[in-house]
Amino acid sequence: MRPNQNSQFRNSQLPRGLGRWSFGRWECAAILLCVLAAGCRQDMHDAPRYDPLEASPFFRDGRSARSLVTNTVARGGLREDDHLYQGKVDGQLTDTFPMPVTAELLARGRERFNVFCAPCHGRTGQGNGMVVQRGFRAPPSYHEQRLRNAPAGYFFDVMTNGFGAMSDYAAQVPVADRWAISAYIRALQLSQRATVDDVPVDRRPELDQAPEVRLPPGRPETPPAPEAR
Ligand code: HEC
Repeated sequence: MRPNQNSQFRNSQLPRGLGRWSFGRWECAAILLCVLAAGCRQDMHDAPRYDPLEASPFFRDGRSARSLVTNTVARGGLREDDHLYQGKVDGQLTDTFPMPVTAELLARGRERFNVFCAPCHGRTGQGNGMVVQRGFRAPPSYHEQRLRNAPAGYFFDVMTNGFGAMSDYAAQVPVADRWAISAYIRALQLSQRATVDDVPVDRRPELDQAPEVRLPPGRPETPPAPEAR
């Protein structure tokens, strides 16, 4: 048979040094070191712990995962206060808050509302958030009479347990923040129905003054006339 003249890897064409494999003392030492170092990791692979749901010969039922001890509550897991954790007093949703409603609570509620609820409910609670404008089912407006009459605990309950097409927000929004959001929803509802009577008497004259318009810096006071453009 004729030798393959076109072979790309004829010995004579290989770069110098690759044709012959020769190792010095240092190369051998380096390879030995790598092998030894890799061996050290074995301990980590066989750590003395159980993987989730791994079998165990230690317990009689053969399971490494243990059930909770009956009639015990994990530390920090006691949720006795129905008002705080369910929005209920004597089994009924309540219109009172389990903490004082302060300016800080409302500010926190506004911030959290704008993060978690406004995408669907809109910043003013009309139910026209961006997600809804993109096709998600429209929620009812917070300003309809039924929801204006709903107790504060109802909003807490909807966030905790979800409602119809809306999933719950118990995992994303902690208990105290759910109350803060409830308080802010109350403020939103008030904001859309405020009357002159709600304004303190001494500040009513300010209502007749023209609102102060603050233009962003660098903008001309008045837009240029059409012919000047
Ligand atoms: C992904 C969109 C979405 C987000 C985010 C969302 N909701 Fe809703 N929400 C809905 C929809 C849709 C409904 C109507 C559900 C239905 O009627 O099946 C609804 C209904 C409600 C209702 C009215 C229940 C009733 O009786 O009609 C309340 C109150 C409410 N949401 C509160 C909140 C609060 C508070 C948050 C923020 C923690 C929030 N929602 C976040 C979509 C959303």
